[in-house]
Formats: sequence, C-alpha cells, structure tokens
Amino acid sequence: MKGILMAGGSGSRLWPLTLAVSKQLLPLYNKPMVFYPLSTLMLAEIRDIMLISSPQDLPQYERLLGDGSGFGIRLRYLAQPSPDGLAQAFTLGEAFLGDEPCVMILGDNLFYGNGLSRLLREARIAAEKGRATIFGCPVKDPRRFGVVETDAQGRVLSLEEKPARPKSSFCVTGLYCYPKGVSVLAHTLRPSSRGELEITALNDLYRERGLLDARLLGRGYAWFDAGTIDSLSDAAGFVRAVEARQGRQISAPEEIAFRSGWLDRSGLLHAAKRYGEAPYGLYLQAVAEGVI
Ligand code: TTP
Repeated sequence: MKGILMAGGSGSRLWPLTLAVSKQLLPLYNKPMVFYPLSTLMLAEIRDIMLISSPQDLPQYERLLGDGSGFGIRLRYLAQPSPDGLAQAFTLGEAFLGDEPCVMILGDNLFYGNGLSRLLREARIAAEKGRATIFGCPVKDPRRFGVVETDAQGRVLSLEEKPARPKSSFCVTGLYCYPKGVSVLAHTLRPSSRGELEITALNDLYRERGLLDARLLGRGYAWFDAGTIDSLSDAAGFVRAVEARQGRQISAPEEIAFRSGWLDRSGLLHAAKRYGEAPYGLYLQAVAEGVI
C-alpha cells in the first residue's frame, strides 16, 4: 500500500498567509500542518509515501522531512507544475504507485479519533478486493461541502458538490483509499469547467461501477480542514486543548514511528535531538524514556 500526500494548491483562501509560504508548512498550533496528514498515513501503517507540491515549494518540504528516515518511513517528492486538481496525483504518480493500492490524504486535513486506524485497515482490505473508500464526516451546514449519500451497507449512492438540498449531513473528507489501477481511471478524466482533474469525478467513476464505499466518521472523531482562517484557528485550538489536557501530542510522526516499531529507542532519541530543548524535542525524549 502506497501513500500520497497532497501539499500543493494555491491556498488562496488563506492569503496573505500563503503568498510566500506553502499552506501545509504553516503552523497548526505547535507543528507544521503537514505533520498531521503525514501522521494519519503512518497510522494506516503506510511507510512508502510520495509528497506532491509545487516545484517552488518542494525544496522546503524536503528540508523539513528529508528522506523520511527520521520518521521511520520512506518519503519521495513529486512536483505538480500547477494546481490542476487532486486526481492529477494519480496520473503524475503513476510510476510511484505501480501495481499497488493507495491512500491519498490532503495536506490540510487533520483527523483525530480512536478507531481511525481500524477504519483505514478495513479500507485497505476493500482496496485489495478492487473497491475504493471515502470517509464522510457530519457537518452542520452540508450545503458548503461535497456531500455523500450511502445505503445501509455503506455503498455510495450519490456524491454532490455543494448541493442546495443535501441528501445527507455527511461531507466528503480529504482521505481516500483506492485499489490498484487508479491511475488508469484517472487518465480517462477530462478537466472540469474550472480546469481541474476533479477527485469527485474520479470517485464517481468508482460509484458508477458499484465499487465505492463510504466510511462514516461518527461523533467520536474530529475532522478539520484547515484551509480557511477560521478553520485553521479552530484546528489549532483543538490541538492545544487536547494536548494540554492529556499531556500527549497529537500527530507527532516520530512518536508514531516509535510506537509502531519503525524507530527504536536510540532512533527516537536521535530524532528528538533535532528539536533541541524545544517542547517538541523534550516530549519525544520523554516518549523514548518511557515516561509518556
Ligand atoms: P483546496 O483546499 O481545494 O485548494 P487550495 O489548497 O489551493 O486552497 P484554496 O481553495 O484556498 O485556493 O486543496 C485541498 C488540498 O489539496 C490542499 O492541501 C492543497 C492540495 N492540492 C494540491 O496539492 N494540488 C491541487 O491541484 C489542488 C487543487 C489541491
């Protein structure tokens, strides 16, 4: 199973914050935003990951994340010359994906909740059988989102972008799991009226074939898309509140690697050194010493 992390885009809803800095490098409370979706992929036990961003921003991601060995994973980088849509990941990333299924996550999405790993495991099993999975989350005003309607078995009946009369209150989040061969389908897509290879159009191809399931994240999950000023601030407030209560960090990739057995104790201590006496470094040290 391969992972794709989308860290391009224009970030126009966050201007002026993103005029000189890529959105996914902005701070989400105490970590670069990209740590959160990276952690979600790692919790899905994915260790072979391609990060896609613009040619001008890729060097900064490489500076931050390197070849992934500090996180116990393998990271590769791919340039998306212009933000021409999320489904372009699968045409650009065709060679990387080869004959394997994959999980794609959007770089500005934060997922938090007990049992997410289990849902992702189930999606992986479905992908081995040729089925694609998307993840829905309840929202107060579904008219502002892509909305998913399912039958009792979780099969997707309809996908609608910003519907005036939503068929459910579940919106489509930025986490997708596809079986092998997704690139072949992506190649059949044509740019939409806004000039993008749309992920919804790709999902619709699976739905039309009866091969699209939706897993609905219940009330025990938190999902944020940190793409607007308010949602970025809300997500930061959430991370701060949970971390302050629990004394545990949300989405520290090195900690996930350690607990997954991909970094041993000395590997984690070595990774922690990079952050010196900053709270993040001290936290990783405490994890390595078994205090946390
Ligand atoms: P969006 O939020 O849809 O777009 P954006 O990031 O360009 O922001 P805005 O609407 O404010 O201009 O993108 C969702 C995520 O996917 C985000 O993390 C950026 C990433 N992305 C790409 O990497 N390539 C793309 O072609 C697109 C459209 C998005």
